Amino acid sequence: MNVESSRVGYDASPLLEEMLARDPIAQLRTWLDDAYATPGLSEPNAMCLSTVDSAGRISSRIVLLRGLDTRGLAFYTSYFSRKAQAIGDHPQVAINLYWAPLHRQVRIEGRVLQLPEDESDAYFASRPRGHQLGAWASEQSEPIADRNTLAERMAHFEERFEGEEVPRPHSWGGYVVTPEYVEFWQGQPNRLHDRLAYERDGRSWRITRIQP
Ligand SMILES: Cc1cc2nc3c(=O)[nH]c(=O)nc-3n(C[C@H](O)[C@H](O)[C@H](O)COP(=O)(O)O)c2cc1C
Repeated sequence: MNVESSRVGYDASPLLEEMLARDPIAQLRTWLDDAYATPGLSEPNAMCLSTVDSAGRISSRIVLLRGLDTRGLAFYTSYFSRKAQAIGDHPQVAINLYWAPLHRQVRIEGRVLQLPEDESDAYFASRPRGHQLGAWASEQSEPIADRNTLAERMAHFEERFEGEEVPRPHSWGGYVVTPEYVEFWQGQPNRLHDRLAYERDGRSWRITRIQP
């Protein structure tokens, strides 16, 4: 097998207009439920997040979807990271979710805002203690001499917070992406895939079928 010749045929049921929810968040929830119900599909909430910085340079990385409500899609990260700096420069992002066993992709474009502090506090408090300490130990996106230095920083914060709850560092918290464009892609035979795109139309959404 190699990249030139490996080929997967897509034979899932088609995605038809009448099957779609009126609201793309509701439709995304349905597809996430399908992904969670698919055996062997690991981390259905992993999504590729692309940002653009002040120099117009685009960068992508995976983050985990940690909330989905009428406001949009929430994720958590370091507010001092490379992605956070880009968001500060340019609060417009693109997200991509791909579930290979289902032959499905969702593309989202929208504006991003920091979540209110109390929501970040509540989510941080729900994380395992080791992950909380990791948020203190790591200055995300900054260089570090070696792995041992990171382990020493972790040990330092383990000692500092011994016997007490780990507070949320101010450098860490959530963002919510308010979607402006959401496209659902369902793989189909002969590369004649279904693509149905939602775009804001006043207070509702307009749905357009796009050629594959
Ligand atoms: C499966 C997976 C899940 C991840 N989840 C997160 C996440 O929720 N938040 C986060 O900050 N980084 C997460 N990461 C790490 C990011 O991909 C990235 O390395 C990190 O956020 C630094 O990116 P930046 O330097 O562009 O800011 C995850 C990586 C993978 C592979």
